[in-house]
Amino acid sequence: ENHILDQLPLNGKKVLITAGPTYEAIDPVRFIGNHSSGKMGFELAKVSANLGGEVILITGPSHEKVTHSLINTIPVTSAQQMYDEVHAHFNNVNVAILSAAVADYRPKEVADQKIKKKDKTLTLELEKTVDILASLGEIKKHQCLVGFALETNNELENAKAKLKKKNLNLIVLNSLNDKGAGFKKNTNKVTIIDHYDNITRYELKPKSEVAKDILTEIIKQLNA
Ligand code: CTP
Ligand code: CA
Repeated sequence: ENHILDQLPLNGKKVLITAGPTYEAIDPVRFIGNHSSGKMGFELAKVSANLGGEVILITGPSHEKVTHSLINTIPVTSAQQMYDEVHAHFNNVNVAILSAAVADYRPKEVADQKIKKKDKTLTLELEKTVDILASLGEIKKHQCLVGFALETNNELENAKAKLKKKNLNLIVLNSLNDKGAGFKKNTNKVTIIDHYDNITRYELKPKSEVAKDILTEIIKQLNA
């Protein structure tokens, strides 16, 4: 037996985390993506593992790296691949934290040859990707389901609406308006809202510290 691990709050718990952007192919050499670095998700994975959790980290293309005996990293590229991996593991986890910046739309058709330069304009038709977080909200049982919200206006209202609509336990609102918060940065400023409408605002701080705040809220939910 490991008595030290027994005292860690996530000992014996499985945590699924999504991180990074997704890339949606246009043709064999091009894609639609976004500036997500994956940092927030990787920090969440590290903190979860340090608290004793067994982590499945499903990440889109990212420069972040982590080696930890409790973290199993599964790299994916597209929203559909991320959806497939998430659903392959969701039934076996206690907590799912979806911090990935999943593309909302993808090219409706993927050209199988490189698209050649021709006319003055080029129009791509896009179709919605599947909402991974919402799909988990529909099937969740015991799991603590945590989503993120990136908003530029009506932040609280929009975040609360997402929490309800996607059937979440917690939503982490990212405030992009603050200097130092958001994409590519090492710091973040968040507000956490639970399903009883309790709102907690946090200071701007390193993403490693933000990850601790988020996991503290999750552990409270697990123990409630
Ligand atoms: N999300 C997801 N699958 C998608 C889109 C989003 O799992 N196809 C998740 C994100 O990981 C995040 C949450 O949904 O946890 C909210 O993402 P966000 O982009 O803020 O909201 P959307 O629901 O996509 O709505 P919109 O972009 O229009 O604000
Ligand atoms: Ca979105």
